[in-house]
Amino acid sequence: MLVEGLAKIKVEGVFYNPRMKFCRDLDMVIFKLMPGKTYLDSLSATGVRGIRAKLEAGKEPFFNDISKKAVKVIKENLKINGIEAKVYCEEAGALMRKEKFDHVDVDPFGSPAPFIDPACFSAKKCISFTATDTAALCGSAVKSCLRKYSCFVEKVEFYPEVGLRVLAGKIASEATKYDKAVEFFASWAKEHYYRIHVVVKRSPRLAAKIYENYGYLIYCKKCLYREYINIENKNNTKSCCPRCGEKLKVYGPMWLGNMKNAKGDLSKVKKMDVDKKVKEFLIKLNEEIDVPFYYNVHEVCKRLKVSPKPVDEIIEKLKEMGFEASKTVLSGNGIRTNASIDVVEFLLQKF
Ligand SMILES: C[S@@+](CC[C@H](N)C(=O)[O-])C[C@H]1O[C@@H](n2cnc3c(N)ncnc32)[C@H](O)[C@@H]1O
Ligand SMILES: [Zn+2]
Repeated sequence: MLVEGLAKIKVEGVFYNPRMKFCRDLDMVIFKLMPGKTYLDSLSATGVRGIRAKLEAGKEPFFNDISKKAVKVIKENLKINGIEAKVYCEEAGALMRKEKFDHVDVDPFGSPAPFIDPACFSAKKCISFTATDTAALCGSAVKSCLRKYSCFVEKVEFYPEVGLRVLAGKIASEATKYDKAVEFFASWAKEHYYRIHVVVKRSPRLAAKIYENYGYLIYCKKCLYREYINIENKNNTKSCCPRCGEKLKVYGPMWLGNMKNAKGDLSKVKKMDVDKKVKEFLIKLNEEIDVPFYYNVHEVCKRLKVSPKPVDEIIEKLKEMGFEASKTVLSGNGIRTNASIDVVEFLLQKF
């Protein structure tokens, strides 16, 4: 028997990954702030996430796993934790087509792609997705990304963010089929996984507006120049880099808008009594400025053949110059800023 958060869990040969504890710790704080009562843990395994959602965030959980062995273990774990809840033994997509829940959680082995459509259909208020197919999302496995996410990307030096925006774009576009507009509540990439929490709202008008934040990253492999362009303006794309003349790459379509704290609720974390590391991470996430595609300071310095500079100092310098700038949870070497690559290179060379 092991203890995670307020839950006591028996594993007994069913999938349980202790490396995902921090992710579940973050989730519990986020769940407290997200709307909705009924919560489907659609790929439960031991049921740890749904059990914690009940004990720590006051959700009314429903459990599901296609494996009979997992269902047996979930039922035992519910008993141990004094929880009464329905446990389904169904294919998750089929269940989500049949029943609706306020909040649907999709935590699969590998890619969530097969479950995005049914989750968008089933969820009345919120959806949470995990993805561990990082090679497909971040541009290492180009064909796999095309097959699963209908998106063309290659690996760039800020690949964790590209992967997150590919997944976010797929979720946003799948939801609009059901006239649902998504707002990103919290999303991050860490170690071997991506995690995205969204709030959905049924409105054909708002669902159409989603595409204002959907489009392409235009990128120069040679000099790291980048810009982004809305899907409706694709024909206005330059074909050559305005800095160095190299042929530009066009990656996407993907999500280009805000990736977190859409309604400002994440800022409540500051006043919450939660674990220090969890709090630090969520405050850092909340304080990231809303500008897509961070600069990887190490990579820019390497190209310039100058020694790497501390991220904090560069952020301060950018702010002094009147630009917006922040760190990012996606990379210790990352800077988010509305300054151009020319400005960033100027600073890295000067100091
Ligand atoms: C990654 S594990 C879930 C981990 C769990 N959510 C946690 O936090 O520990 C995925 C689970 O999904 C189940 N599963 C795989 N494909 C499924 C499907 N199509 N429908 C329902 N369950 C499925 C597996 O049996 C496995 O227990
Ligand atoms: Zn260039």
